[in-house]
Parts: sequence; C-alpha cells; structure tokens
Amino acid sequence: MNLKIISSTDRPNSNALKVSEYVKTLYQKEGADVEVITLEDFPLEEVVGGRYGKKIPAIEKFREPVINADGLIFVIPEYNGSFPGILKVFVDYLPFPKAFEKMPMAFIGESDGAFGALRSVEQFQQIANYRNALQFPERVFIARVNQEFDGENGIHDEFLQDLLESQVVNFVKFVESVQKKEMDQLV
Ligand SMILES: Cc1cc2nc3c(=O)[nH]c(=O)nc-3n(C[C@H](O)[C@H](O)[C@H](O)COP(=O)(O)O)c2cc1C
Repeated sequence: MNLKIISSTDRPNSNALKVSEYVKTLYQKEGADVEVITLEDFPLEEVVGGRYGKKIPAIEKFREPVINADGLIFVIPEYNGSFPGILKVFVDYLPFPKAFEKMPMAFIGESDGAFGALRSVEQFQQIANYRNALQFPERVFIARVNQEFDGENGIHDEFLQDLLESQVVNFVKFVESVQKKEMDQLV
C-alpha cells in the first residue's frame, strides 16, 4: 500500500511537517509504504503568471507521486480561518477531472488556536468532495499544537492520541477495502 502524507503548507519549520513526519512513523508500524510530501517543495516559481493547463515538467514531477498514491493523508494548518493558499494552488495544478477521483483521503488539522483547524479541514473537504475523493470519516484536530504536540511522543492528550492512532489503523483498512472493491470489479 502506497500512501502519501501531504504536509499542506510552504511555511519553513512548520508544525504540519512535524506532525506529518510523526504520523509517517505510525503508518510504518502498520506496514504501509509511506512518504511525506511537503508543499514547501512545490515549484511555485513555475506557475507565476497563471500557467493553468500548460505542460510544466516540474509540476508534473511534483504531482505524479500524489496522483499515483493508493491513499492520501492531508495534514492541514489553520491560516486565517482556512487552509494555506499553497494547498489550493497545488490542487489547481492537478489534472482535472482525474486526480482525486475515488482517492481515499484522511485529514488531520493542527493550529495554534483552540479549534485545531476544524474550519480549514472542512473547507478543504468541500474541494475533496467536489473532486469525488473518498473521504475517511475519522478526522483528528490538534489544537494548541505548539504545546500539545511533540515529534517524539505525538499528542499529549491521551484521548486525542488514541483518536490519531485509531485513524491510522482504520485508514489502512479503509484503503485496503477500496483496493479490494476495485479488484473485485476487475474480475
Ligand atoms: C498566515 C498565517 C495565518 C494563521 N492564521 C491562524 C488562524 O486563523 N487560526 C489559528 O489558530 N492559527 C493561525 N495561525 C497559526 C498557525 O495555526 C500556527 O502557525 C500553527 O503552528 C500551525 O501552522 P504551521 O503548520 O505552519 O506551523 C496562522 C499562521 C500563519 C502563518
């Protein structure tokens, strides 16, 4: 199973990236082949001027592992009550309509504030919904991330940490069941 974790900001030294790297270790324990893709590496300079629909090799290279994944886990911070602009730019440069069609997706929100990026995740889910993704219903929101999370132990609140671990275990099963359904349709 090939999973990609999308650290959904271009902010250097972000909590999104720290959470993503931690979550990666949880997926590895479940035997998944998992990689973090950070939007810090999105080749933004290639799209200046609005190069929608153009063949841009650097963009194609960046998006290819995402499109070919069996499932995606988005780690999304809260910026101005929403998700970071770079995440929307990234989605706007994915091939339409195929990119997220029937793609299993899980969501983790994190913010400095009290709501753990609930708004950001739900706003992004509207886009995932529009693009026909298969959205896993167990979501995790890490509020006060600077105090409540560290890269070694995860989330300090035991209940939330249990939710995160449950999301990981059950998302793997969710992706497996989607793969099985697709195989059944082939035979
Ligand atoms: C441009 C910007 C806007 C932000 N807006 C919010 C916000 O609306 N609500 C909030 O709780 N935190 C907000 N924050 C703080 C982030 O939640 C905080 O940086 C947190 O560490 C998660 O973001 P990170 O993954 O970039 O570290 C904002 C941060 C930035 C850089």
